[in-house]
Amino acid sequence: MSIQNKQPVCVTGANGFIGSYLVRTLITHGYTTIHASIYPYSDASHLFHLLPSAAYSNVQLRIFEADVLDYDAVAKAVEGCRGVFHVASPCTLEDPKDPQKELVLPAVQGTINVLQAAKNFGVRRVVVTSSISALVPNPNWPAGKVFDESSWTDIDYCKSRQKWYPVSKTLAEKEAWDFAKKHGMDLVTIHPATCLGPLLQPSLNASCAVLKQLLEGSEDTQEYHWLGAVHVKDVAESQILLFETPTASGRYLCTNGIYQFGDFAERVSKLFPEFPVHRFVGETQPGLTTCKDAAKRLIEMGLVFTPVEDAIQDTVESLKAKGFLKHKMSTS
Ligand SMILES: NC(=O)c1ccc[n+]([C@@H]2O[C@H](COP(=O)([O-])OP(=O)(O)OC[C@H]3O[C@@H](n4cnc5c(N)ncnc54)[C@H](OP(=O)(O)O)[C@@H]3O)[C@@H](O)[C@H]2O)c1
Repeated sequence: MSIQNKQPVCVTGANGFIGSYLVRTLITHGYTTIHASIYPYSDASHLFHLLPSAAYSNVQLRIFEADVLDYDAVAKAVEGCRGVFHVASPCTLEDPKDPQKELVLPAVQGTINVLQAAKNFGVRRVVVTSSISALVPNPNWPAGKVFDESSWTDIDYCKSRQKWYPVSKTLAEKEAWDFAKKHGMDLVTIHPATCLGPLLQPSLNASCAVLKQLLEGSEDTQEYHWLGAVHVKDVAESQILLFETPTASGRYLCTNGIYQFGDFAERVSKLFPEFPVHRFVGETQPGLTTCKDAAKRLIEMGLVFTPVEDAIQDTVESLKAKGFLKHKMSTS
């Protein structure tokens, strides 16, 4: 797609961790009309400073305040766009007090509202940011087989363990596919693993908090939330690739490899020996089959994944710069 063909696009959750990086990448890819949809009254000022000011000279970056549960507000953000990147969804690993209200409803109904608006305004394609949490945990997956896009998270298994984030992502994605099928819409889903990289937004997001906590000595195995890691810049590039590639369809796993969280902790510890990173004994994800090039579908489309070490370095630098991580922990 040439620069003059870049069509107006809407990004929901535009001021979050992935959303901000996506807005930045859209601008560098030559998109000139971007509707940035944000939660009402949240801060989006950083979106105007993601790049040197010259990069914005041709760009119409319009902010729309829209709770994704408010169809009319969502519709205003989507109107006039040919593409929608639906990124907004509550992303927390903390236990919710009211899972239905805090996680499931905004994920599911929010996705339906975005798709409904996209349908009403004749959007060409919607790229929904799902998650590896809609693929795993899936205890019925055959032993020894590498996880791929044909896996679906076992909702009952998650509910019985009070793992509400995977429930929310899985139900939202299932609804999205049902809606798209029913209305003949062009939908593609992307499934990032734990996403790391520079924080462009002012607040600490959940996935970067996982690395921060690990550096601070957390012993949490991420048992139900881990498959691997990916640099946020690769997620943004993939989202755009999936929007721009006419033949793209279905689900796309987006991770630089599948491996145990314990192995990730080892790598973090090697890079930052001054931090008290916990050494996990045994498997943190029991039975998980390792695979280097797990995101085959994106790799075949030309995506080259950033080494996880770079993603870790970039995150740590950013966490330090923003004051979320002390420069050096005491090892005594
Ligand atoms: N980071 C990862 O490792 C990862 C991996 C796989 C998939 N994902 C998915 O990627 C997406 C973005 O996650 P992220 O890491 O960028 O987290 P994030 O920084 O927390 O971004 C989530 C965004 O969604 C917005 N949002 C939540 N509820 C909303 C609502 N009712 N109406 C409007 N906006 C709402 C949030 O706004 P406020 O903060 O103002 O509430 C925030 O801007 C999510 O769909 C998440 O499930 C993330």
